[in-house]
Amino acid sequence: MIRKGIILAGGLGTRLHPLTLATSKQLLPVYDKPLIYYPLTALMLGGIREYLIITAPGEADQFRRLLGDGRKWGIELSYAVQDRPGGIAEAFLIGKDYLAGHPSALVLGDNIFYGTNLRAVLHEAAAQVAGATVFASWVDDPERYGVIEFDATHQPVRIVEKPKAPKSNWAVTGIYFYDGRASDVVRELKPSARGELEITDLNQWYLTRGELQVVRFGRGYAWLDAGTHDSLLEASQFIHVVEKRQGLKIACPEEVAFVQGFIDAEQLLRLAEPMKGTGYGQYLIRQAQQPGT
Ligand code: DAU
Repeated sequence: MIRKGIILAGGLGTRLHPLTLATSKQLLPVYDKPLIYYPLTALMLGGIREYLIITAPGEADQFRRLLGDGRKWGIELSYAVQDRPGGIAEAFLIGKDYLAGHPSALVLGDNIFYGTNLRAVLHEAAAQVAGATVFASWVDDPERYGVIEFDATHQPVRIVEKPKAPKSNWAVTGIYFYDGRASDVVRELKPSARGELEITDLNQWYLTRGELQVVRFGRGYAWLDAGTHDSLLEASQFIHVVEKRQGLKIACPEEVAFVQGFIDAEQLLRLAEPMKGTGYGQYLIRQAQQPGT
């Protein structure tokens, strides 16, 4: 079982200026909660309880103010800084000592995952400790992503980062699971033409050896990233509509911690207390009393 996760929440957020001039992108609101709650709860649903949060220089304090050491949610949070955006795979160099050769999951701090069976799907990925698992989603603008090329028998054969002529519409999403070799493999990678250690090169390393599992998110799943003004607004609208219609919240860490058994009902009520004047606080109280309603 994978026990450690890395949340990559650095980057310059330049595409979101002026929103990100004074704060981090991953702390911006997506409807009723900060963006980072979404990727964090995805890994919590996978059963992971120990995290390294990697932030840009000068931003760690804001994350600490929001999340603390994680104890309130029954998880353990550590923090590290990425001096400059040297690529997503650099997370495994920054996190090398933290991981100490253990298998791990990585999630991008601006990615949102939603789907009916997500918990089971992520649990399964986290239970695998040999090789690597990535998740693919169908997109209509594949040139913006890492894209998977399949052979005639639908087996993945290659992953190409931001291809000019994409060979499929299947993009690699920002949630990844690796065995204990990831840091050592990344140490051998060379920066790409854009000067970054590419996560696609790490994934290709596993694929070349026949050790990469590609799971496709099919119908019933939504994958969103919130890196531009439009996608941030669309993400808020999506969460708003789904939460309103189903009466349940998406990516509420207090609720997820409770459902996963990381905290008990009494602890959940204690977390709700300072927020009881809000709909969010009332929701937590309801979950403690009548879970899932
Ligand atoms: O969202 C999925 C895609 O994410 C994948 O399909 C691509 O293969 C992968 O390269 C990545 O592409 P992006 O162009 O979306 O990556 P971006 O540079 O926007 O970085 C994603 C997030 O990671 C962003 O919120 C900032 C953070 N980041 C990024 C880099 C390069 C860091 O914290 N540090 C970094 O060095």
